[in-house]
Amino acid sequence: MISKTAAWQNLVEHQRNQQDVTLRQLFADDPDRSARFTLESDGLIVDASKHLITDETVSLLTALAAEVGLPEQIEAMFTGEHINTTEDRAVLHTALRQPRGTNFEVDGQHVNDDVHAVLDHMSDFVTRVQSGEWTGHTGRRIRTVVNIGIGGSDLGPLMAYRALMASRHPDIDARFVSNVDGTHLHQAVHDLNAEETLFVIASKTFTTLETLTNARSARSWLLDALDGDPAATAKHFVALSTNAEGVADFGIDPANMFGFWDWVGGRYSMDSAIGLSLMLATSPEAFRAMLAGFHTMDNHFRTAPLAENVPVLLALIGIWYRNFHGWPTHAVLPYCQLLDRFPAYLQQLDMESNGKQTTLAGEPVDYDTGAIVWGEPGTNGQHAFYQLIHQGTTPIPADLLGFFEPDFPEVDHHDALIANLLAQAEALAFGKTADEVRADGVPDRLVAHKTFPGNRPTTMIMANRLTPFVLGQLVALYEHRTFAQGVVWGVNSFDQWGVELGKVLATAIIPELGNDGDLDHDSSTNAWIGRYRDFVNRK
Ligand code: F6P
Repeated sequence: MISKTAAWQNLVEHQRNQQDVTLRQLFADDPDRSARFTLESDGLIVDASKHLITDETVSLLTALAAEVGLPEQIEAMFTGEHINTTEDRAVLHTALRQPRGTNFEVDGQHVNDDVHAVLDHMSDFVTRVQSGEWTGHTGRRIRTVVNIGIGGSDLGPLMAYRALMASRHPDIDARFVSNVDGTHLHQAVHDLNAEETLFVIASKTFTTLETLTNARSARSWLLDALDGDPAATAKHFVALSTNAEGVADFGIDPANMFGFWDWVGGRYSMDSAIGLSLMLATSPEAFRAMLAGFHTMDNHFRTAPLAENVPVLLALIGIWYRNFHGWPTHAVLPYCQLLDRFPAYLQQLDMESNGKQTTLAGEPVDYDTGAIVWGEPGTNGQHAFYQLIHQGTTPIPADLLGFFEPDFPEVDHHDALIANLLAQAEALAFGKTADEVRADGVPDRLVAHKTFPGNRPTTMIMANRLTPFVLGQLVALYEHRTFAQGVVWGVNSFDQWGVELGKVLATAIIPELGNDGDLDHDSSTNAWIGRYRDFVNRK
């Protein structure tokens, strides 16, 4: 187990010796600190200087990565080894963004040919919809795409649709329905014209309760609006899935299914066919530019030395805080309104991947794994939860993301936005001492209240502008950060058995809510089912 190795113990010792180190001191001692800890990958600038690290920390962390064979594991992923051992699958989301013509065969499959065949199918379909050649059942152009999916079949395309507002098609809107709460579907369709609506049913497995329930209700809504003609489904429903049989059973023409493969994990799938709604609401060109951004970060991750490798370095710094400082959460704070769903997207990516307590060898870990990932855009968060980040009792390492150029320069607030981003990083790192507070003339009784401890670490991640290319770089950066952490922790970042039990129990409870049969749960669950039955019967 990794915690028993010398590499791990060296870090335990190093943390003990580092306890009095402050960012003030580190910056004072080393005028080159900012330059030395700032990395760059194809225009993406990543400043790790405001972390509680020294050259020695980085060298001990990279020794830990070498100890677990991280470079070999990275190569194993890229070359299609079955690193998802509990499901005996390759993990090849990086193949989704390899340029056409990259020779690549895995398990007898010509991966690159298949990937590009689906991309061509998607582009062709999008062009037909956007040009008006593809119409709804009554001959009207499609104006709204409603993506029905959940988890990885929702969060990625939704996040990217919001992020790429500047690349949107002028005449096609997208809406996203995920929750089985009927309100979500109602909200999405209540003001739509069915004749101009295309439903994109996104589900890797095509068995997910929420998605199939919403898809069936969407079909009823459509048919009610179009005089019940079942032929309408063919022009208003397409599917994104690996399950051709399930799609056909639902009644969607297999010609209108966009496929992908079991080696694409749900939370790593926004650049597969799962991105069709995004492509429909932007353009094939924007989608391909995003794939190029993913690919450039893939190349960096695969080839850069560990200490200069952006995803690896950020992964290791995360481990430094999680395992050697004992800090449980990680905040993602985009100073960019268009990235408002980015923290939610990263929650699934990271927490579903690394929220694990069993090693690949099937043993219980004796150290912490995945951090709690959360966040909101700045500057909003500053007026909500930053108080705790500045003066709370547990430090919260944070990623601060920003862009030099505004998305919509018509409203020119950008200096104020960027000034806040820089000010927060400065305040968090260096704080304000009691002496400085006193020097401001603050009365003694308030000095402690107005003192800021500092030493609150941040990573600053900036690019010129939030383009599709940069979005692809950012997502790939976090995908690889997640994987690199999983390798160090020795867990499988590509399964998600922890979501199964709740699904099974819900499936058992659904019929029980609608009948008055005997119940066999614990007394609390039985009581709640009873109250629900009573309420429904009283109506
Ligand atoms: O419940 C978890 C999960 O399996 C995720 O991993 C996945 O992204 C989501 O459900 C949706 O699954 P599907 O795309 O198969 O509907």
